[in-house]
Amino acid sequence: MGVNVRQPAPKLLVVGGGGREHAICWRLRQDRPHAEIFCAPGNAGTADVARTLDIGAADIDDLVSWARSERPDLVVVGPEDPLIGGLVDELQAIGVPAFGPTGRAAAIEGSKAYSSALVTRLGVPAPDHATFDNVDDALAYVEDEPDGVVVKADGPALGKGVIVCDTPEEADAAVRRMMVEGAFGASGARVVVQELLQGPELSVLALSDGTTFRTIGVARDYKRIGDGDRGPNTGGVGSYTPVPDASAELVARVEREIIAPVLAGMRAEGRPYVGLLYAGLILTAEGPKVIEFNCRMGDPETQVVLPVLQGDFVDLIDAAGSGRLDRTSTCPPTQAAVAVVLTSEGYPGPSASGHPIDGLDAVDSGLVFHAGTERRDGAVRTAGGRVLAAVGLGDDLGEARDEAYALAASIRFRGAGYRSDIAADALGMAVAS
Ligand code: AMP
Ligand code: GLY
Repeated sequence: MGVNVRQPAPKLLVVGGGGREHAICWRLRQDRPHAEIFCAPGNAGTADVARTLDIGAADIDDLVSWARSERPDLVVVGPEDPLIGGLVDELQAIGVPAFGPTGRAAAIEGSKAYSSALVTRLGVPAPDHATFDNVDDALAYVEDEPDGVVVKADGPALGKGVIVCDTPEEADAAVRRMMVEGAFGASGARVVVQELLQGPELSVLALSDGTTFRTIGVARDYKRIGDGDRGPNTGGVGSYTPVPDASAELVARVEREIIAPVLAGMRAEGRPYVGLLYAGLILTAEGPKVIEFNCRMGDPETQVVLPVLQGDFVDLIDAAGSGRLDRTSTCPPTQAAVAVVLTSEGYPGPSASGHPIDGLDAVDSGLVFHAGTERRDGAVRTAGGRVLAAVGLGDDLGEARDEAYALAASIRFRGAGYRSDIAADALGMAVAS
């Protein structure tokens, strides 16, 4: 992307304001202590390591104007919306280096119909699926699926456009919610119906320069709000790395059967994927199958992957952006990390905000990555459903978990909640089911 990023004090912009972006800013600061780092729109935590810009992550025009006048050496785009909306294309058009896929390549997340067709064409292991534009066809299909299905809105829906259905009746209701009631707006006018797979989930994060890729993280995240995977889906309320049931052989199989063919297939169709490709997998009895791709780092996977990533992250993303990943090498992390996400009362439904957060000044071990926080009236306050992640580090998952939970217990705000079983499965602990 440019020699400037390799200088000791590059000018960097991180787009986004969640826990993932706080972790990215923190890591950029670790790797480039003298860098000038900006974050748009950031949160109360990013303000400790970066300068806050009052520009929303989806305000593509304002971000491009800022970049046109400020000429950053690199823009790192965190969330999917600006990527799908073509922010990277626009920045490249004005000669500003940006890390992330182009809008066409980001369709791997932006359109589930596109990604489903891609994996089918390439023979990549994935659940059986069908795509529908017509509600009657969709209803007729799910009626004949007694073993359960997953109904997914084609377009982006803030991580909420996925309904897991155990019975044909639930699937019928899910199709109607999306296609008749329009619960996800235009994103649900077309739906993908997938076979309901059984098995543990795994997130694999691979950096790609379009031709070469490097896996930089393997993590497990927790989507359901309640212990034992009960309750509604969320944006992700915990994560850990490494994942003991993801052996080096299994990761190599994922790279060989899923990541490599998808990147080669996209290159062959004239949409090379440059950026971070996130493969969401289920480890079935028949082997790993991909249930979704994301065009960006995961949240809260990033909060555990970046603290333990070996090497220089800035160099790695620079190499990915400039077609030089083949000249880099990566080593597996030597440390473990566990993230416990503290949420506001009510999340993932409407949740309270504005409560002061205590305990942040007394953190002496572990890391706190803010998500829904803001500084107002002299205090750091809650400002969203996912408030922050308490991240513990250690030589093994047990140590990391103990640190994460000690940290989570030391941070207090009204209505705070968190799961008590993050990483318990990896340690062979009993988990409520
Ligand atoms: P997604 O947004 O596609 O990752 O889906 C959200 C969650 O729904 C996933 O993390 C899984 O827990 C679940 N899910 C999605 N697709 C499937 C599938 N085909 N089989 C089983 N569970 C799924
Ligand atoms: N943790 C899942 C996601 O970022 O989509």
